[in-house]
Amino acid sequence: MKHSMTRRSFLAATSAAAAVTALPRSAWGASESKQRFLIRTEQEEGRVSPLLHGQFAEHLGSCVYGGLWVGEGSSIPNIRGYRKGAIDYLKALEVPVLRWPGGCFADDYHWREGIGKNRSKRVNISWGNYIEDNGFGTHEFIGLCRLIGAEPYLAGNVASGSPAEMRDWLEYCNYPAGSKLSDERAANDSPEPFKVKYWGVGNESWGCGGNMRPDYYGGLYRQFASFLHEMGGTEPFLIASGPSGDDVRWTRGLLDTTMPMLPDGISMHYYEGGRFEATKFDAAATEDQFKIFKEVEYAIAHQREVINGYRDGSRVGIVLDEWGVWDQIPEADEKRYGKLWQQSTMRSGVAAGLGLNMFNRLASKLYMCNIAQITNVLQSLLITDGPEGKRCVPTTTYYAFLLFKEHRGNTAVHTESDNDDPLAVSISASKAEGKLVVSLVNPKDRQEVTAECVLHGVTPRKATARILHHADRNAANSFDAPDAITPAAHPARIQAGTLVVDLPPLSVVTVVVEL
Ligand code: AHR
Repeated sequence: MKHSMTRRSFLAATSAAAAVTALPRSAWGASESKQRFLIRTEQEEGRVSPLLHGQFAEHLGSCVYGGLWVGEGSSIPNIRGYRKGAIDYLKALEVPVLRWPGGCFADDYHWREGIGKNRSKRVNISWGNYIEDNGFGTHEFIGLCRLIGAEPYLAGNVASGSPAEMRDWLEYCNYPAGSKLSDERAANDSPEPFKVKYWGVGNESWGCGGNMRPDYYGGLYRQFASFLHEMGGTEPFLIASGPSGDDVRWTRGLLDTTMPMLPDGISMHYYEGGRFEATKFDAAATEDQFKIFKEVEYAIAHQREVINGYRDGSRVGIVLDEWGVWDQIPEADEKRYGKLWQQSTMRSGVAAGLGLNMFNRLASKLYMCNIAQITNVLQSLLITDGPEGKRCVPTTTYYAFLLFKEHRGNTAVHTESDNDDPLAVSISASKAEGKLVVSLVNPKDRQEVTAECVLHGVTPRKATARILHHADRNAANSFDAPDAITPAAHPARIQAGTLVVDLPPLSVVTVVVEL
C-alpha cells in the first residue's frame, strides 16, 4: 500500500512528537532494531466488521466428520453430536460467520440428500472418492451455527445443480410456514425458519466449480439470482464466484455480463502457498510466504478499484472467503488425520496476524473474510487427533484470532510506518469509546524490533498488551503439548505520549490503550 508521507517527513513528524528515551533491551538472542509508526486516530478507515474474522468448514478430510461432528453415539464428549471440545473453543472465540459446505464440495452437493431420516450416500469426488453419508446436513449445520453463535453462509451448487435446486434450498431454509418445503423443514424438527442471509452462487467457478469462462458463469449467475428471493423477511445477500487472486479478467468478465444485476458480494480466494511441510520451514521459505501478504493487500485494493469502476460497483462487497497458508501436506498426516490436515506453527500464527492486520487496514474495502478452514484442514483454528481421537487443540492461528477479537466492531484508523518492506513489522489500529487497540506483528525470524507508535489526536493513559510468541518458527501446539504457545501478558509502555512495545522475532501483539 502507498503511504501518504515521505520517509523524511514521517521521521520528522514522529521524532518531534515523541521524545523517546533509550529503550531497555531484552534477551531474545536476536539482533535488534527500531521501527516507527504514526497512528492518526482522527483519520477513520471504516468499521472493523466482525465478519472479517469469519470461518469456513468443508466436507473435506476431518474438518466436519471427526472434527466438528462426531455423532451423538460417539464416546467423544459431544453436545447432540457436536464435539464438545471444539464447541467450547469456538464459543469462546465468538465465530461471527461460518461458510459451508464447500469449497469444491459445494458444486457437487445436493442439499436434499442431507435432510430427513433417510440420508443418501454419495461419493465425495472432490476430496478422495470416499462415501459421504450426508449425516451432517443443513439442520446439523444450522444447529452448529446456533450453538456457537455464528451467522450461517451457505454455498450453493451451480456447476452440477440447478436454479430450481438452489431456489428450493432457500425456500426450505427461509420461508416461515405453509409451503410444502417449509412444512417439510418443520416436520424435520425445525419449525422456525433458519433465516440464512449469505448465499454463495457457486464456488471457484473458474476451476473445480465447473471450469467456466467468466461470461458463461456471469450468465448462470443472472439465471440463478433471478430465483433467489427475499422470504420471511430475510433478504438474501448473494455472493458471486469471483477471481482467484487478482485475476482482473475474471472480475471484468463477470461484471460485464451481470450488469445491471450486480451481485451483493464477489468472492475472492487467495492462499499463501508454502514450500515445505508446516513443521519443517526454514527461514527463507518463511520469509517467502510472509511476503505474499503484501501481494494479497495489493490484490484486494486493486480488485476494489476495478469493481468500483462499474456503476454502483462500490455497493458490491469483497468477500475473501478462502485465505490462509497452504503448506506441503505430509502423506502420513493425511492418512492418520484426514485430507489436507495441516499443523499450525508459530509461523502460521504470525501469518494469521499479518492477514488480520491487513483486514483492519482494508476495513473499508472488505465485506467478509473466511479463513480456510475452521478445523483440521489447512490453516485451521483447531486440530483433533483423528476420527476416534478425543483430543482437540487450539492452534496458534486460533490464538491470533483471539488476540484480534479486541478490534471487532471498532473503527479502523489510519497507520503509517517508516518501513514499507514486506518483512517489516506490520501494524493496524482501531478505536472505540475510551480506547485505542493496536496490533503489531513482527515477521522477522531472528530480529527483535522496538515499535515506537506516535499517537495523533488522543492522550494515552495506560497500555496493556498480550503476546503470542515462540522463538522456534516450527513450534506448535500438539496433542502432547497443547499449551506450548498461548497468549501471555506483555509489557507495553507510554513514554511522552508514544506507545513503545518491544517485539521479539515471530510475535503477534495486541495492545489496548486506555484514553
Ligand atoms: O479449501 C480447500 C479448497 O481450496 C476449496 O475446496 C477450494 O474452493 C479451494 O481451491
